Amino acid sequence: MDCPQDDDDLQVISSKGEELPQPNESFQELLQSLPIRKRITKELLYLYDGFWIDESCLEVVIDFQQNFQPQDTDIILVTAPKSGTTWLKSLVFTITRRSQYTISDKNHPLLTTNPHGLVPFVEYVNPHNHVGTPRLFATHLSYTLLPESIKTSKCKIIYLCRNPRDTFVSMWHFEHKIMSKLDPSWQFPSPKECLEQFCEGVSHFGPFWEQILQYWKLSNERPEKVLFLKYEELKGDIIAQCKKMADFMNCSFSSEEENDGVIKDIAKFCSFEHLSNLEVNKQTEQRSVPQLDNGIFFRKGEIGDWKNLITTSMAEKLDQFVEQKLQGSGLKLN
Ligand code: A3P
Repeated sequence: MDCPQDDDDLQVISSKGEELPQPNESFQELLQSLPIRKRITKELLYLYDGFWIDESCLEVVIDFQQNFQPQDTDIILVTAPKSGTTWLKSLVFTITRRSQYTISDKNHPLLTTNPHGLVPFVEYVNPHNHVGTPRLFATHLSYTLLPESIKTSKCKIIYLCRNPRDTFVSMWHFEHKIMSKLDPSWQFPSPKECLEQFCEGVSHFGPFWEQILQYWKLSNERPEKVLFLKYEELKGDIIAQCKKMADFMNCSFSSEEENDGVIKDIAKFCSFEHLSNLEVNKQTEQRSVPQLDNGIFFRKGEIGDWKNLITTSMAEKLDQFVEQKLQGSGLKLN
């Protein structure tokens, strides 16, 4: 077979014989048409359908929107970054797979795989080849950006949110860690500057309040479709929250399981203390999300750590801002 000689030879021809667009051509056109902002951390974000997304995720998101084929039993876990995604993934994986892998099973996948390696993010990895039942997926996408096929199918969504003060502070440390590794001499912007941009809505998959409100409203309108959880409530009563999740996913705990302490064991197994001390999650060179070391998803796992980074007056301003955005929704995040 001859090698292509010039650009014309590189044209892609479909099985029906018609010419297809060059790979990425329409995507590049789309990018050029979108509003763009440079984050204080220097990344470029594009405003796509009302939400800020970086270029590499956006390409995967569009493919996901167009091609994802849901199954009625699928469970989609949705969070804003740094709201407890890792924890939610481990809990849902353990609850839904408990007949296959008991907590005492020496081969339990969570003992050797980071939760992000078991429940893929749809915006980082195209999840067409996902295996296991029910299929579990995770995303940071707002409801409007989910494929229509998910909205119309019977698959279920679990949404987890976290107090914006702690979410912001967790994000600040996360980005600080990433940036200092990439460029040790780089001066990371102050929490104050970062917080200002966070409140402008210019954060990955933000504005964060729009995402929270979409899933909050939906969980009230269609409680069989969306379960709305809070990080602080998981911390407050993990047993009750695990039961709630299992009921929602149609895999309720039996009274026998309850009496045998299965829920308690799952909670302990997925706790920060247990997961963060597993060798696989201490690894700095092992990766379950592209470019991110497994260990970066575990820092303190506490409520109220914002106090160690931002001032009370900054926190109060953030609270007022959030309260204003949530006004009339019936949702409180403090
Ligand atoms: P902190 O930075 O406040 O410690 P995400 O998983 O969405 O990236 O969120 C990360 C945050 O969740 C981090 O918060 C991390 O420490 C915390 N976290 C990770 N695993 C957890 C667990 N099993 N229980 C509670 N918090 C956890």
